[in-house]
Amino acid sequence: MKILVIGSGGREHALVWKLSQSPRVEALFCAPGNPGITRLARCVPIKTDDLEGLAAFVKRKAIDLTVVGPELPLTLGIVDRFREAGLRIVGPPQKAAEIEASKAFSKTFMERHRIPTARARIFHEPEPAILYIKEHGAPMVVKADGLAAGKGVIIAQDEAEAVQAIDLILRRKAFGEAGNRVLLEDLLEGEEASFLVFTDGKTIVPMVTSQDHKRVFDQDRGPNTGGMGAYSPAPVLTEALQQQVLREIVRPTLDGLAREGRPYQGILYVGLMLTPEGPKVLEYNARFGDPETQVILTRLETDLAEIFDAMASGVLDRVRVRWRPAVSVCAVLTAKGYPATYETGRPITGIDRAEVGEGVVVFHAGTQLLDGELVTAGGRVLGVTAVGDDFQQARERVYEAISRIRFEGMHCRMDIGLKGLKATEGSA
Ligand code: AMP
Ligand code: GLY
Repeated sequence: MKILVIGSGGREHALVWKLSQSPRVEALFCAPGNPGITRLARCVPIKTDDLEGLAAFVKRKAIDLTVVGPELPLTLGIVDRFREAGLRIVGPPQKAAEIEASKAFSKTFMERHRIPTARARIFHEPEPAILYIKEHGAPMVVKADGLAAGKGVIIAQDEAEAVQAIDLILRRKAFGEAGNRVLLEDLLEGEEASFLVFTDGKTIVPMVTSQDHKRVFDQDRGPNTGGMGAYSPAPVLTEALQQQVLREIVRPTLDGLAREGRPYQGILYVGLMLTPEGPKVLEYNARFGDPETQVILTRLETDLAEIFDAMASGVLDRVRVRWRPAVSVCAVLTAKGYPATYETGRPITGIDRAEVGEGVVVFHAGTQLLDGELVTAGGRVLGVTAVGDDFQQARERVYEAISRIRFEGMHCRMDIGLKGLKATEGSA
């Protein structure tokens, strides 16, 4: 089988890393890829939003299956475009991907199907939104409707902050078109967890649980980022809670989408808040998470190409998906200044020495080869990942590996996986 992976981040490096181990895969391509991916797949310089360029490449190379990493091509309709051309692809069609592309759509969808989520109101104009803020009172969560690279969500601690957020999104259009509508949402309290499933539209195969670390500094301080690290499993999401999430959230979501003429196939990511009243949906993603994928796929035993192939053919029920009973931890190394303006072009050393460590894989995200030298090229630069028997071992391996890597201005959180460690300490 010839496979193309679309994307260029740590998530796509993890996808390519896992697919490259498959005996079924005779050729692996990535568009556009990154220097880490180059060692495992042939990288081709086609942008993720160039749907025609991607389709033409797939036809020319007679690629059997395409796998989409990021949300952009999904929301542009790459799945519809490929299927019309008779090309096999894993991912939801545009209308189904709307559950990620529009928070207003996903909120009203959840209300229609009685899927547990925070109560919210949708506004197009600033004045009624501000009136509602005064009436409701803080704290509350202000969200831009559309895609804003994880930055369109503002947790307002007081009314002034909420009003400021309205001004930023609706009046000053800080997120462009994504801010044509806002949601004013009740603040939920509890522990967050990520729950992802593979689905071909009929069969649902849950992945192992994971937890992201969104804030830039230790102890969840500082602004939100794309994700500073992750671990799997997330012990807070117990077996009983996972069954509840499948029953009350995942199944009704997929059934509801199908009933509304938006049949879903691909990866469904549910961002959860585990509240005292039970799990509630914070957000849907129509794709794998980054960096959740790095910790999930390092625990996958089954051939990922077999899973994707079965998904694209609608026979996922024929695959038995197995996971390693291990712990995986990924800490993201970021560039100075991230998540605001960050530095690029700083030489990176020590990756080879880091990867000597047992169970360690270093996934590239924002890196670039400049005259043969590896340099930083993004906010999230590397995702240092390690599998271990327990949280302590996985964490030790990750931070030992990180101590060998250097670039100017390098930052990482030191507490990745600590929550998992604390949750399991008594039971180990
Ligand atoms: P979202 O993109 O909607 O997942 O929001 C990004 C982050 O904002 C989430 O991972 C949460 O940490 C936080 N968040 C979003 N909505 C809420 C809410 N209703 N209550 C509390 N925190 C929230
Ligand atoms: N790690 C969160 C996301 O991928 O959206």
